[in-house]
Amino acid sequence: MPYRPKELKEQYLYPAIRTYYDEPLVLDHGMGTRVWDIGGRDYLDFFGGILTVSVGHSNPRVVGRMGEQLKKIIHTSTCYLNEPMLEVAEKLAKITPGRLQKSFFLNSGTEAIETAIVSAKAHTGRHEIISLRHSYHGRSAVATTLTGHAPWKTVASTTPGIVHAHNGYCYRCPFKQTYPGCDLACARDLEELIKTTTSGAVAALIAEPIQGVGGFITPPPEFFQIAVEIARKYGGVFICDEVQTGFGRTGGKLFGIEHWGVEPEIMVFAKGLANGAAIGCTIALPEIADNLKGSTISTFGGNPLSMAAASATIDVILDEEIPQHVEQVGGLLMAGLRELHAEHKFIGDVRGKGLMIGVELVGENKTPAPQVAVQFMECARELGMLIGRGGLYGNVLRLTPPMTVKDTEVAEALDKLGKVCDQLNQA
Ligand SMILES: Cc1ncc(COP(=O)(O)O)c(C=O)c1O
Repeated sequence: MPYRPKELKEQYLYPAIRTYYDEPLVLDHGMGTRVWDIGGRDYLDFFGGILTVSVGHSNPRVVGRMGEQLKKIIHTSTCYLNEPMLEVAEKLAKITPGRLQKSFFLNSGTEAIETAIVSAKAHTGRHEIISLRHSYHGRSAVATTLTGHAPWKTVASTTPGIVHAHNGYCYRCPFKQTYPGCDLACARDLEELIKTTTSGAVAALIAEPIQGVGGFITPPPEFFQIAVEIARKYGGVFICDEVQTGFGRTGGKLFGIEHWGVEPEIMVFAKGLANGAAIGCTIALPEIADNLKGSTISTFGGNPLSMAAASATIDVILDEEIPQHVEQVGGLLMAGLRELHAEHKFIGDVRGKGLMIGVELVGENKTPAPQVAVQFMECARELGMLIGRGGLYGNVLRLTPPMTVKDTEVAEALDKLGKVCDQLNQA
């Protein structure tokens, strides 16, 4: 009997778990920037498992370190310490901006977001949180309430005390203005939001330096300085969600927020930190971490195998100067996409930083074109290339290869993307 992944998925998995493509793709193995499906067909991977395979599939240094750890011990729980956990905590304290120092290791971004929110509330003694429209922060009740997208919310997204501020989305400016003449009306509106929809004293502003699931919405450079200053004026701390933007992804810097000149009180990591091993981490200023009183455990948090993967991933990122490499190859990818933008009417906007590039597909008058995005992805798959999709309307292609991608692979990707555009123009 032939293998029936679509039927098996429908029968045994929650339908809410959305897979890409009409015929779900079953991946078997990967190496560097390439993955192979169970039929032996290879694909250029320009999504990296949602920006998670940061230093390449089966990276030898990460796999080697995990292999060594596998033979020693794979579970301790947070009731005991393990060496890789302490190693990663020390490395993070050294490489993160400002005075960020104390880490709490978890299993996913969602858990790390929860920990960040609890930490901010415990530290400030307040409970109101400001999040941004078009944000994504995970899948728990709190995280989906923080999330600024109706499609990703559930019946449980009703946590009280969370309000949503404008983001810096210049292509679809909610104030119908143009940067820089707008004087950052989007960021300045935060003050009005606090005065009119909260008690006037908030616990935190939480935001992604570049919005990931939102479609790589890249704010104007001054957005965060203005917004964070307002949040602090009303007593809030700044929680920076670096789950997608962290560890060199945005090019030239280790963390996305470093482009915007703001030092957060709390940062959240997951995804690319361990090159695919399950991980989440909240790092905070020491006084904030110390204010989370009481007892707490995470059975799998700080798991030695994930921590070994994270330690090796950080080493690769630093030793191989990945942020600089990302800036260089990201520049090539961006230049090629800008050429496609100039040639094809259905490309409305190309944006992002480093190897976090979004391509917003539109019809007449910037109308979001999610169907074109779906066709684009199917077509790219046919040509042997995987890409991601996002945006409130599902019309933004997301290009995020492993950060170790080579120049030649970027050229190969641009060639394929050009062919997809030509096919769509003929359709
Ligand atoms: C910015 C951001 N924060 C938090 C999360 C939640 O992470 P996880 O899926 O590991 O729970 C995600 C996941 O995509 C994310 O993109």
